[in-house]
Amino acid sequence: MVSFRISTILLLSTRVSDVVLSVTAFSAASADASSPTVPSTSLETIWNEVPEGPPDAILGIAQAFRAAPDEHKVNVCVGAYRDAKGLPWVLPSVRKAEEIMLSDDKENKEYLPIDGDQAYVAKALTFAYGANAPLERIAGVQTLSGTGACRIGGQFLADFYPNKNIYVPDPTWGNHHKIFAGCGLNVNTYRYYDRSTNRLNLEGMLKDFKDAPDGSILLLHACAHNPTGCDPTDEQWSQLLEVIKEKGPLIFFASAYQGFASGDAEADAKALRRVVDAGFPVLLAQSFAKNFGLYGERCGTLSVVCKDAAQKDILMSQLKCIIRPMYSSPPRHGSSIVRTVLSDEKLTEQYYTECASMADRIQSMRSRLVETLKEVGSTHDWSHVTEQIGMFAFTGMNSEMCDELTDQYAIYLTRDGRISLAGLNEKNLVYVAKSIHAITDGKSITQ
Ligand code: LMR
Repeated sequence: MVSFRISTILLLSTRVSDVVLSVTAFSAASADASSPTVPSTSLETIWNEVPEGPPDAILGIAQAFRAAPDEHKVNVCVGAYRDAKGLPWVLPSVRKAEEIMLSDDKENKEYLPIDGDQAYVAKALTFAYGANAPLERIAGVQTLSGTGACRIGGQFLADFYPNKNIYVPDPTWGNHHKIFAGCGLNVNTYRYYDRSTNRLNLEGMLKDFKDAPDGSILLLHACAHNPTGCDPTDEQWSQLLEVIKEKGPLIFFASAYQGFASGDAEADAKALRRVVDAGFPVLLAQSFAKNFGLYGERCGTLSVVCKDAAQKDILMSQLKCIIRPMYSSPPRHGSSIVRTVLSDEKLTEQYYTECASMADRIQSMRSRLVETLKEVGSTHDWSHVTEQIGMFAFTGMNSEMCDELTDQYAIYLTRDGRISLAGLNEKNLVYVAKSIHAITDGKSITQ
């Protein structure tokens, strides 16, 4: 155990606050006689001038939920699965894989290679692209979940792809904006969701795809769009593919809900596979946070479909150059779990059943929410919620209504009207429905 005596801490803190940074000292090597004299500034002053950062639009609310004292508080904010009792769930197939790993002498704690565990990557890519995936020409690296995958992919594009315009749906997962801007890409939006009808804005989407500069990057959600839960139908995908064919953008798929959306991992991969089969160039950011329940294990992949194996090797070398100075190599526990599950036929079967059971519970909460809203007297048309898919209900409530739900009823949700259905259960359903009814009654739920 490390212990500090109070006097040592005081001594350390006194020394730190006494440090005076001479800004000119840092630039001594390049300074010349004509350099302006920069006044010395104390470190205390410099740190005092750092402005406080804003709380995150999703995780900041989750933190506020944890801090809230109300006994009846409800967390429908973060997209993380909860069981019928409102508790986090470790999939039994994941536990089983951990047991297998624990008793396997070959499992160790060595560094993974920069590009991660390639046996895991192969399993993960087959899961996404399908059994006939052309793995020999897909450059794939293990990443820190979907966020890390977007970050590595975004950096790769910023470094090597000439068109720096990325178009993301409006709305999209809030972090997409920050990730891609952080990579140095110009983040633009395309129309996706029409808040006046609470439905997909197909016309707007087609028009914005057509109007985007040639060769732009298009970010598409593979399934269970976050935050709207509104996906194009097969027919609408056909129309979108026509424009994509005409315009030749680079497609960047984000896939965080495969299997978790419909309960069928193959069905949820349909849009991605259609685009790859049609021969379009594709990048894929894949996450195992939701569908394997591996949130804190930070487990995903980033892949680029290449023309051939030689191109794949070159791209792999550059992806490694991006990863090494960022975090050297990925953590190994989560990827070992996914590899172990997907390498064992029986365990894979068990996993698919468990994943489907999560999707089923969420789906039943979706219909129960709409039924209960009607039962408690809401006369609004909530059919858009029933039509949506995946983890979220995009209710149509505006930010003031969301604030009211949080401030008056201790129901914590994001301010865009998104509800994480996994946070609902038989204990809190009526309370949530009554509260939503109270704040939406007589007001519009379209914007
Ligand atoms: C969400 O959208 O709630 C999740 O993807 C969690 C996150 O990191 O934002």
